[in-house]
Amino acid sequence: MDTPLAVVTGASRGLGRALAGALNERGWRLVVDGRDGDRLAATVAALPQPALVTAVRGDVADPAHRAALAAAAGGRLDLLVNNASELGPSPLPPLVALHCDDLERILAVNVVAPLALTAALLPALVSARGRIVNVSSDAAVEAYEGWGGYGASKAALDQLTAVLGVEHPELRCYAVDPGDMATDMHQAAFPGEDISDRPAPETVVPGLLALIDGDLPSGRYRILASVQGPTASVRVVGGGEVLSVIVAGAAR
Ligand SMILES: NC(=O)c1ccc[n+]([C@@H]2O[C@H](COP(=O)([O-])OP(=O)(O)OC[C@H]3O[C@@H](n4cnc5c(N)ncnc54)[C@H](OP(=O)(O)O)[C@@H]3O)[C@@H](O)[C@H]2O)c1
Repeated sequence: MDTPLAVVTGASRGLGRALAGALNERGWRLVVDGRDGDRLAATVAALPQPALVTAVRGDVADPAHRAALAAAAGGRLDLLVNNASELGPSPLPPLVALHCDDLERILAVNVVAPLALTAALLPALVSARGRIVNVSSDAAVEAYEGWGGYGASKAALDQLTAVLGVEHPELRCYAVDPGDMATDMHQAAFPGEDISDRPAPETVVPGLLALIDGDLPSGRYRILASVQGPTASVRVVGGGEVLSVIVAGAAR
């Protein structure tokens, strides 16, 4: 089998960086992005096999940047991870106080960009009978005060993913809720609060890898990670499917 290739958006920090590190450690080639070029370059340099990684600095909401990602991926793509995301203003405002331009930005990054990137990469994904992982949130299905704009965007992303799964049975299309993670985005949602009790994004990665490696049906999945001592127990739950993964030596 050829060395597999993944496009991971928003890979310079947080969950995207953790997943990129795990894939790269397994020998995957990667195309990664982020808006801050210095931070992206530093992240790539620290990956296990940086020679296998192409960094493309840019904003997923920019059509020219998406075209550059597609050009870097080429004609065959095993995995697209739409991970880059926009939370909106911090602190999170009540829905009627959310400015229209902020909502438009949230939708551009979290809904329009993942679909447009999927369309640009579809021939390459079909060539490899690949997988699409769209990173969602519990805010897509729960009504939390302040999370209306972001949550509506993730609900739209879930529905796009569901329809893509029906329209493309040759692919696997997953919307994945990773659960709370101690990342910059989570800190922005809870400014000034101590979020150190939330799991590290690395604890979610085994669940994502189980979806990427497996052949579960297209659909919406939740990753439930719990860490006890040196062992992480990860459950992937969705569509009546439960897949458990026990990981020794997991980082918290
Ligand atoms: N953290 C949580 O508790 C949580 C819970 C549920 C779901 N999620 C979802 O998990 C995913 C990862 O979130 P995270 O917490 O890891 O976020 P994060 O720590 O803030 O990292 C976001 C990454 O995406 C990049 N990025 C942001 N906007 C971008 C854009 N417009 N174009 C290109 N790159 C962009 C960032 O780099 P630059 O800033 O340099 O662009 C960074 O690399 C998101 O889809 C988020 O909605 C997170």
